[in-house]
Amino acid sequence: MSKTVTITGAAGQIGYQLAFRIASGQLLGANQKINLNLLEITPALNALKGVAMELEDCAFDTLDKISISDDPNEAFKDSDYAFLVGAKPRGPGMERSDLLQENAKIFSAQGKAINDNASRDIKVLVVGNPANTNALIAMSNAPDIDRDAFTAMMRLDHNRALAQLASKLNCHSSEITNMTIWGNHSTTQYPDVGNLKLKGKNTSSLLDKEWVKNKFIPRVQNRGAEIIKARGLSSAASAASAAIDHMKDWTLGTKIDDWVSMAIPSDGSYGISEGIIYSFPVTCQNSAYSIVQNLEIDAFSKESMKITEKELLDEKAAIEHLL
Ligand code: NAD
Ligand code: LMR
Repeated sequence: MSKTVTITGAAGQIGYQLAFRIASGQLLGANQKINLNLLEITPALNALKGVAMELEDCAFDTLDKISISDDPNEAFKDSDYAFLVGAKPRGPGMERSDLLQENAKIFSAQGKAINDNASRDIKVLVVGNPANTNALIAMSNAPDIDRDAFTAMMRLDHNRALAQLASKLNCHSSEITNMTIWGNHSTTQYPDVGNLKLKGKNTSSLLDKEWVKNKFIPRVQNRGAEIIKARGLSSAASAASAAIDHMKDWTLGTKIDDWVSMAIPSDGSYGISEGIIYSFPVTCQNSAYSIVQNLEIDAFSKESMKITEKELLDEKAAIEHLL
């Protein structure tokens, strides 16, 4: 049976990458047919029509039906997977949190539409910024859907960290495991190399603490802005790629002896407040994620994890009326 995948903002930069990769089987494999439900705002419907025409013209083996709409109730009908991408991106000099008030209302409306129309087993990934708090808004507006179904994207930060580390350690990114990004998809995120392994071995003797603190962490925290400065537009292909990595691992499972970073509803693990969508190290099995427990947290990590938690609590306070 076909699976229904909803992409919001499907005529935008990220949506244009995501739709073709998902339709061609890069999310659920060559043996799973996909129905694509593409959502846009009314003025972008003509552009979306063009995207749908191009999708048809690819004649992908794995693509069944395509529907386009400006009505969230239609777009989330029976949806099994939802990529909530449609939202305004930031420009140069802005923080992602500057988008909060403008983008927040999109996610309350879409949370309600998911609640009323989607499969009860839906998996939701919020990409539109500020992603963690937007996911919280969507979750709060979908009381009949399991809270664990709502996640936000930290995988781009996770992948960025792996790329920086591979360059530093002169190895391939696939040889590095056990990387964690804690907290918010913002400059307060905490990229933590405390448990990092290279080819299964501890890396603490290989990474200079000064480099980690003064070069690596700020580089990962500010990579989004670095891309905006270079391209004049925010990251798109790498964001779409990370979105597929996130949803694919959640559905099909993470690699043995490794974990990934996902922003999920906090359950109080590691002393992080419940009621926010915070990034933790997780493993996935049988289509579910669980937080990796009992990692050692040193004083620097603890302080860094609290800083990013505070930012999420502040963002939550700013949109409390939408929850
Ligand atoms: P874009 O402007 O190219 O595309 C966004 C699309 O969303 C537009 O086509 C717009 O018409 C559509 N849209 C706006 N409101 C909508 C609504 N209510 N319903 C449906 N569609 C709607 O932007 P982009 O570069 O594709 O980025 C999209 C979002 O993703 C931005 O908020 C950006 O900051 C964010 N982003 C997040 C990450 C991450 O790691 N979490 C990475 C990159 C970008
Ligand atoms: C990113 O990390 O590339 C995105 O969140 C876009 C941005 O605003 O930085």
